[in-house]
Amino acid sequence: MHLTREEEAMLAGEEGRATQKAMQILVALGKIYDAERMVRVSSVQVSGVSYKNLGDAGLEFLSELAKDGRARVKTTLNPAGMSLTDWKSQGIERGFAEKQLQVIDAHGKLGLEISCTCTPYLAGNEPKFGQHIAWGESSAVAFANSVIGARTNREGGPSALAASLTGRTPLYGLHIEENRAPTMAVDVAARLRSPEDFSAMGYFVGREIKDGIPYFRGIKRAGLEDLKTLSAALASSGGVAMFHVEGLTPESGLKPENIEALTFTKKELAETDSLLNDDGVPDFVSVGCPHCSLAELATLAKLLSGRRVEREFWVCCSREVKRQGDEAGYSRAIEESGAKFALDTCMVVAPVEELGYRVVATNSAKACHYLRNAGLKVRFMPLEECVAEATRGG
Ligand code: F3S
Repeated sequence: MHLTREEEAMLAGEEGRATQKAMQILVALGKIYDAERMVRVSSVQVSGVSYKNLGDAGLEFLSELAKDGRARVKTTLNPAGMSLTDWKSQGIERGFAEKQLQVIDAHGKLGLEISCTCTPYLAGNEPKFGQHIAWGESSAVAFANSVIGARTNREGGPSALAASLTGRTPLYGLHIEENRAPTMAVDVAARLRSPEDFSAMGYFVGREIKDGIPYFRGIKRAGLEDLKTLSAALASSGGVAMFHVEGLTPESGLKPENIEALTFTKKELAETDSLLNDDGVPDFVSVGCPHCSLAELATLAKLLSGRRVEREFWVCCSREVKRQGDEAGYSRAIEESGAKFALDTCMVVAPVEELGYRVVATNSAKACHYLRNAGLKVRFMPLEECVAEATRGG
């Protein structure tokens, strides 16, 4: 693998131990994937921030890097396992909170922005078309590649950190144009009426296509919220890191050639809805997977205005989008209903199962997937029904 003089110096330890370790990780990765060289990245997004996933080994690794490592490019963080300020009211145990704060502290020492969101593209980390980036959060990776046209592989925690400390990543996979072509066409015959329908479709297609690149045909309109939740669902049931929507996404000119097609009709939509619904009455309701946009806060404010929630209701979003919601007056209407903003975290990376809840209602197929893996029962429903469920009896 070709390294520049500067990269050789990093590898030789001339720029400190953390940078050396980072370059070792990237060179090893590059060798595995047969990368010819490194490419500079314009931004990094680090996932695996929750202490629930990192554990003590992860915390130790971070603390070691933080001794002399520093981010060289804009680097933002995925959600943590709790709100960094309101963890007590979330019912988080002190022991977990202390460890989580140590994880955040180490990231801060490394010079990372403590943004704690899975929608960095709504909170100031906004790559441009064609830029190389190194992002870790799977839903954001799919969104960045597909909707923005930036180029990233799905980075693990260590490789994303390594990219941040060196400003580079090995040139392979989705950084190379020829690897971004579709591998399967999806003819959409179902009428997609809401972001939740896009979420269900993503869940179905992800299961079918695994880590391929779907090319959706027959979708006339798709808004940011539709594409955000589609990205998340495709990357949860499968390992999809990129998709195209004919006529809508920026690289949909890379047309499918001689590839298989699958069809998504109202039958598959109904089957997926039912697959994502367990029995049971929800005792916890959460929306914002991926983290809410401002438009979603506007909808929630309208739906919740003048109503009271009767069960725990989390609205997950970034501090930046919450700030915009404050300015627009949406946050107040949401909080006056008794719903809680879950900032810095989400219903999946927080230890919800340890807080005593059993059945979660949510409008995200991705959240259903992971909550079920954590032993909870799930109910998948549109945003409006989540609000109805949360306020039922009130
Ligand atoms: Fe984001 Fe948590 Fe969903 S990190 S994509 S809200 S599982």
